[in-house]
Amino acid sequence: MNIAALPGDGIGKEVLPAAVRVLDSVAKHDHVELVWTWFDWGCDYYKVHGRMMPENGLEILRQFDAIFLGAIGDPEVPDDISLWNLLMPIRRDFDLFVNLRPVRSFDGLPPRVRLDTGTSVDFLIIRENTEGEYSESGGRSFRGTEREIAIQNDIFSRIGIERITRFAFDEARRRHGRVVSATKSNGIIHSMPFWDEVVAEIAAEYPEVQASKRLIDALAADLVMYPESFDVIVASNLYGDILSDLGAAIVGSLGIAASANISSRDDVPSMFEPVHGSAPDIAGKGIANPVAAVWSGALMLEHLGHSQTAKRVMDAIEYTLRNPATRTADLGGSSTTEGVSEALIDYIMSTD
Ligand code: NAI
Ligand code: MG
Repeated sequence: MNIAALPGDGIGKEVLPAAVRVLDSVAKHDHVELVWTWFDWGCDYYKVHGRMMPENGLEILRQFDAIFLGAIGDPEVPDDISLWNLLMPIRRDFDLFVNLRPVRSFDGLPPRVRLDTGTSVDFLIIRENTEGEYSESGGRSFRGTEREIAIQNDIFSRIGIERITRFAFDEARRRHGRVVSATKSNGIIHSMPFWDEVVAEIAAEYPEVQASKRLIDALAADLVMYPESFDVIVASNLYGDILSDLGAAIVGSLGIAASANISSRDDVPSMFEPVHGSAPDIAGKGIANPVAAVWSGALMLEHLGHSQTAKRVMDAIEYTLRNPATRTADLGGSSTTEGVSEALIDYIMSTD
């Protein structure tokens, strides 16, 4: 398997190499061939070349079986430039319409919210990844004057809502058969009622799946109060993004939140990356949690057809998260990026 490795910026440069070491060890253990090609694209590249990636960057990436990304963002480069000239073009040009973000609790790792005894958290956020609130439609006028205005148009298409909803219901059918749709059709009066209508149409195709909708504000509260009750959540680009960080915080930290960006097409690579950003507040300290990146790597292995190898990685994550000595500080542990990845590798090498 040929994989494009893009560490990007900040802690991306720490967690991605650490995760690749873990994936290399599991690949060796299981006789899976992983060939990495490294790219230094990102904000440092921008500071030298005036662009986040070369002009033919997407053509280069297209050749690979998958993309493994760290994080993008640097306090010295405006976020709209860094995100919209690397991450967004990859997601959009390759039509990576699904952003799949699993959230679960782990034995021995206390969640941030109190769970009833005997319950655990295990849900999937299915975020629409190519349209919605993240749109280039709009503009700014009368800049620098009292009349200054900004217009940001949301774009929701029937095709876009249908396919993300189908993906969510297909996942629910394989899981526990429940989908909650995140909406705000009381306040957002054009796009969200449309979202609700199309979701309801697709839901009717899945009589065996229990479908419901919840206004995003109440849904956020439900996630804190009853996180164990969720199975699959389908959400627009913005709502899915916000719920992902909330979900990660509920079970521990952003340091363990993984994601897959999956394409509708088979002639382009899907992309796997932690949910978190470049975390400039802790970058360079060697304390970033590599688990989000490693778990994203497991999602990649699974996607590439290596389910057993992916499971071995997840077993290693479960094992190391049990013990504060093999956790980073964001999870109340005493270890480092390096220490956690070594512990993951040791566990993998000790398995049959
Ligand atoms: P962030 O996710 O980078 O950090 C939020 C908080 O979580 C920080 O306190 C950070 O220290 C902590 N954190 C994140 N990942 C962690 C890890 N692996 N281990 C331990 N702690 C971790 O979000 P923030 O601060 O809003 O954004 C920083 C930069 O990252 C910005 O430039 C933003 O645009 C960019 N960003 C990029 C994303 C991407 O590349 N996909 C996603 C989110 C933000
Ligand atoms: Mg986010």
